[in-house]
Amino acid sequence: MASTYGAARVLVASNRGPVSYTVSEDGSLDAKRGGGGLVSGLSAIGSDADALWVCSALSDGDREAVRRGVGADGVRMLDIPADVHADAYNGIANSVLWFVHHMLYQTPLEPVFDAEFRRQWASYEAYNRAFAEALAEEAAQGAAVVVQDYHLTLVPGMLRELRPDLRIGHFSHTPWAPPEYFRMLPDDVAGQVLRGMLGADRLGFLTERWAEAFTACAERFAGGLGGTRVGVHGLGADADFLRARSHEPDVEERMAALRQEIGEGRRTIVRVDRTELSKNIVRGLLAYRRLLETHAEWRERVVHVAFAYPSRQDLAVYRDYTAEVQRVADEINAEYGTPGWTPVVLHVKDDFARSLAAYRLADVALVNPIRDGMNLVAKEVPVVSDAGCALVLSREAGAHEELGEDAITVNPYDVTGTATALHEALSMRPEERAERSKRLAAAATALPPAQWFVDQLDALRG
Ligand code: G6P
Repeated sequence: MASTYGAARVLVASNRGPVSYTVSEDGSLDAKRGGGGLVSGLSAIGSDADALWVCSALSDGDREAVRRGVGADGVRMLDIPADVHADAYNGIANSVLWFVHHMLYQTPLEPVFDAEFRRQWASYEAYNRAFAEALAEEAAQGAAVVVQDYHLTLVPGMLRELRPDLRIGHFSHTPWAPPEYFRMLPDDVAGQVLRGMLGADRLGFLTERWAEAFTACAERFAGGLGGTRVGVHGLGADADFLRARSHEPDVEERMAALRQEIGEGRRTIVRVDRTELSKNIVRGLLAYRRLLETHAEWRERVVHVAFAYPSRQDLAVYRDYTAEVQRVADEINAEYGTPGWTPVVLHVKDDFARSLAAYRLADVALVNPIRDGMNLVAKEVPVVSDAGCALVLSREAGAHEELGEDAITVNPYDVTGTATALHEALSMRPEERAERSKRLAAAATALPPAQWFVDQLDALRG
């Protein structure tokens, strides 16, 4: 491939980009900017940095934008054939790599690595190659490239071959599987993933634990790290943004509506997640049911506000899980609800302003993932909650490394233990709760997104 050397000095590559398009009724394209750590990180390095974000076209609107040559400044969307993208994203990234790193497989039924898997793997390779080639075209001599996540594990190695002059980094937003679990992948595929990652100069992880797991896999299955450096950057919550955004009028409106749903004078246990197996929403609901069963004093006095936003709905396993969450919530409401009290207020329509409203009202935040790279909700609620919240936090969330001291720790599989933790959180004296919440917020915002990104870049260049 002939590289037409480009002008970009800092490049980010990720499956989901910072902007998405929809075709409106009159045929024009509407652009919507996303938020998140990377977006604010990139804006922090300024426009004169010649930054470019390479991402996938994900919607019909995105693909239309590529066709029309419409684009946001500093963004290049790749129009990867829809079937190739579906195999790579749904088939490999979200059904295999996500499941391996979050240890979600339930043997003996899963996984089965058969001919279908091999076909999807070929698409994953093609999809990674499309990114590597675009980055090779766009990058200026000696530019820094930061590749994001499990969707793009082969890119560093591929890009290294095309452009040995570049500084290549990769950052994982997920956990990394321990060797005993990682070796579930067919040997050649595991080897390709590790060699792809090790094509980077530097690999970033959210916690020591995930960095160590990667290093252990590299040592056991790829002869070690070679020249690749490994570092930890624990992405924090964006305090300034959250505090300002959570006091805008639309959030106040949603607070009023939520207060109506909750009812006067009741405590709230809040959770906000993408509906996704690793988040462990069903066991959270079972723990709440157990709380109502064993601590009758909380009946009528507490409401579980659960926002579970649909995610990856092309996949049956995610759809089934969404249905299961709804079913268990309905069951609890049927079992314990009274004319004036709905024990579980479940919302499934994604609404950021309403999430912030719930954060502000939270007495208790429940964050109980089976395994989670970081979990930013655990970091955001203490920053936003009006009166300070108690945090019930899974020991398997990356955030636990930073917040464990002031949270109430749970084993995510232990439903009765989680029920006890909820009781303890609800019973905490208001002063203690406020103090702990303040310390949680301080720890949660220690590394704001802009600094997180700049640190990675400095380490990559250093
Ligand atoms: C995880 C991944 C991110 C991803 C997000 C949303 O946090 O680490 O890379 O963007 O999930 O998932 P989605 O499949 O909707 O992009």
